[in-house]
Amino acid sequence: MDRMIKRPRRLRGTKALRNMVRETRMSKDSLIYPMFVVEGTGIKREIPSMPGQYHYSLDMLPAALEETAKAGVSSVMLFGIPDSKDEIGSSAWAQDGIIQRALEAGKKAVPELYYITDVCMCEYTSHGHCGALCGHDVDNDRTLPLLAKTALSHVQAGADMVAPSDMMDGRVAAIRRILDENGHVEIPILSYAVKYASAFYGPFREAADSAPAFGDRRSYQMDYHNAKEGIKEALLDVEEGADLVMVKPALSYLDVIRRVSETVHVPVAAYSVSGEYAMIKAAAGKGWIDEASVVCEAATAVYRAGAGVLLTYYAKELAKFMDEGRIG
Ligand code: PBG
Repeated sequence: MDRMIKRPRRLRGTKALRNMVRETRMSKDSLIYPMFVVEGTGIKREIPSMPGQYHYSLDMLPAALEETAKAGVSSVMLFGIPDSKDEIGSSAWAQDGIIQRALEAGKKAVPELYYITDVCMCEYTSHGHCGALCGHDVDNDRTLPLLAKTALSHVQAGADMVAPSDMMDGRVAAIRRILDENGHVEIPILSYAVKYASAFYGPFREAADSAPAFGDRRSYQMDYHNAKEGIKEALLDVEEGADLVMVKPALSYLDVIRRVSETVHVPVAAYSVSGEYAMIKAAAGKGWIDEASVVCEAATAVYRAGAGVLLTYYAKELAKFMDEGRIG
């Protein structure tokens, strides 16, 4: 037999060595934890399709934020679920809106966290679409000023960063402009630039009460057959002033994360969405997979694909796994 000089196993012999030569490095600083805020008091209500995730009323939010910070996660993404909805989603930019008050309460109670807000209309409109309607379709240009004033109101209430998720054309430019005009040149925009029309958002729409009352989101969110178009979306948003771009969902779109991260020169985030979380939870609940191991493997895959920032409902657990050296 020929001498075998190249033996890949040589680098796998011990944990210390494996850790030394890891190609993918992660840090808990790059985790963002999404949270849901509702009206009312005394509410910490588990979301049925997302076990372990909750709706929090404003009085219960500080303790949950505290717990997040203690777990080693430094950033949160807030989603608001208002009591009253209308055709144009006007509670989205109300000064006493749910997100605006959540920011006030959160920043006061746990100022060390970094607060990002989701900017979209779907939780606030009576029809559940991501903007103002024209007939049965969302009117792109009429929606832009609504998104812009929503983003501004979040920043005025204390948001450190805004993240538009509506997929209207031109919204990053509209938001950048209104923020700058109002003296908020320093506030970054994390654009949900490459967002697919995905069935993996199912549990979220139950959680956020934001399912469209008719039709679907395919006239504004992307067709999952397309990857090149994702690059177009990412480049456009960067041109419009996005400071970070996101690909969403994560696990089924690793190829897109790879291509986008090789194309743009801004940080790329990926959102491991509600359906990804629910699938792991459900299978783990049945005893069919080992939850912690799968969570680590799936998260690492997203970073390996090129993401530098990860939004995930498993953020607190992942921070712990990184601390323990299990991944990272
Ligand atoms: C709002 C929004 C959605 C998600 C984030 N922001 C739902 C949607 O577009 O229908 C999904 C998040 C998740 O599934 O975890 N537009």
